[in-house]
Amino acid sequence: MATAGMSSCGRRRVLVFPLPFQGHINPMLQLADVLHARGLAVTLLHTRFNALDPALHPEFAFVSVPDGVPAEVAATGNPIEIILAMNAAMEASTAVGEVLASVLADEGQPRAACLFIDAHLRAVQEAAAGLGLPTLVLRTTSAACLGCFLAYRMLYQKGYLPPRESEFDMPVNELPPLRVRDLYYSRNNNQEKVNKVLTRATETVKNCSGLVINTLETLETTELQRIRDELDLPVVLAAGPLHKLSSKSTRSSLLDEDYSCIEWLDMQPLRSVLYVSFGSLASMDSNDLVEVAWGLANSCQPFLWVLRPGLVQGFEGTDLPDGFEVAVNGRGKVVQWAPQQEVLAHNAVGGFWTHSGWNSTLESISEGVPMICRPHFADQMMNARYVEKAWGVGFELEGELERGKIESAIRRLINEKEGADMRDRAKDLKKKVADCLESCGSSQIAVDKLVSYILSL
Ligand code: UDX
Repeated sequence: MATAGMSSCGRRRVLVFPLPFQGHINPMLQLADVLHARGLAVTLLHTRFNALDPALHPEFAFVSVPDGVPAEVAATGNPIEIILAMNAAMEASTAVGEVLASVLADEGQPRAACLFIDAHLRAVQEAAAGLGLPTLVLRTTSAACLGCFLAYRMLYQKGYLPPRESEFDMPVNELPPLRVRDLYYSRNNNQEKVNKVLTRATETVKNCSGLVINTLETLETTELQRIRDELDLPVVLAAGPLHKLSSKSTRSSLLDEDYSCIEWLDMQPLRSVLYVSFGSLASMDSNDLVEVAWGLANSCQPFLWVLRPGLVQGFEGTDLPDGFEVAVNGRGKVVQWAPQQEVLAHNAVGGFWTHSGWNSTLESISEGVPMICRPHFADQMMNARYVEKAWGVGFELEGELERGKIESAIRRLINEKEGADMRDRAKDLKKKVADCLESCGSSQIAVDKLVSYILSL
């Protein structure tokens, strides 16, 4: 069953099972890389949906697990629907338990100490529990986001949820600096389904044997304390940013990264370029696309824009408006997918217009790049709120997308004093990230504790 592996008897092994979406795969593979570098063997379990490529990771053993997601649900690309369908199918069949049992019985591999799962894989946790295999959870979003999940019942009891538009700007006093509009809800999904997904993720966290969060102590001190106070778990570790702890070679992109943009960045003036990317899931309509295009063109600022296939609803291609290329006159570059970490680390980049996914936010902070935030759904609203109010390293672009507003937001970030102040604060955060990565830094210590804990299981 294992397609590649190591015959390192005497060592311990961790099994790792990411949720098959880009923003969840990346940190889980980075964690696997970190643990492998500390001497643990790694077996990676993965689904057919968004299957990983074993050839990219010869150091790991790969095992495929049937996910049971019906093709029509997979085709929606909707994470809420896919998470619910995947868990339901896994619970209805004995396949996951059988795969886990055969992985555990594989005598060619070191003994498995535990299984790392995404919080959205409750069905996998239940199958592991049936075999006596401890599960640890990697939270791929912020500590603030997990705190919000844990507070969900209270948020309903106190009437913050379900959200009412008239109360969107009301502060959530128990979870500063969040407002009602920043809480985890979804315009595009049935709220009952969202609640089910969040309730199950909370159950997974409460039933695990240890929790790792992709954040750093100094970024979310209060939020981490709140989680530690609330959860009765043997370890709650802030071991991020995982992309900085793992080796540069950890490649887990589902799309091909276009490296020509790095050569293009090499030719741009220092801190002049606005990098624009809305992550792996967010979408926009064709009117928004036109406004973004003209906002970028009219800003007269160099830009690197990721136009992911599927970004624009209802279109496979991404036709840019007539006259756009002439107006841009070589000042901009458009790619389908970029090597984002390298882009953000490039000294030509002066700002990031982001959808505020947690990985993107952490990657930007790690390089000291200030942000324009345009959150779309899920945890993105609260990430944007923290960027603006808690850390002061960016601001949210609110309301309808309109070219004039976009143009002035870009100027505010790249050319004005306010943007320069945000950049200074982003540099301070970059320093905090560098500190936590030092050999005595909090994230390295968290990894040390994690490895000792795994070896004790
Ligand atoms: C969404 C959520 O918003 C996020 O907070 C949650 O943890 C997972 O689901 P996503 O849209 O994938 O995530 O955004 P983000 O978390 O920012 O992850 C995107 C990843 O893709 C980042 O690691 C980024 O480096 C990478 N990426 C993005 C590329 O490699 N190239 C690109 O062109 C764009």
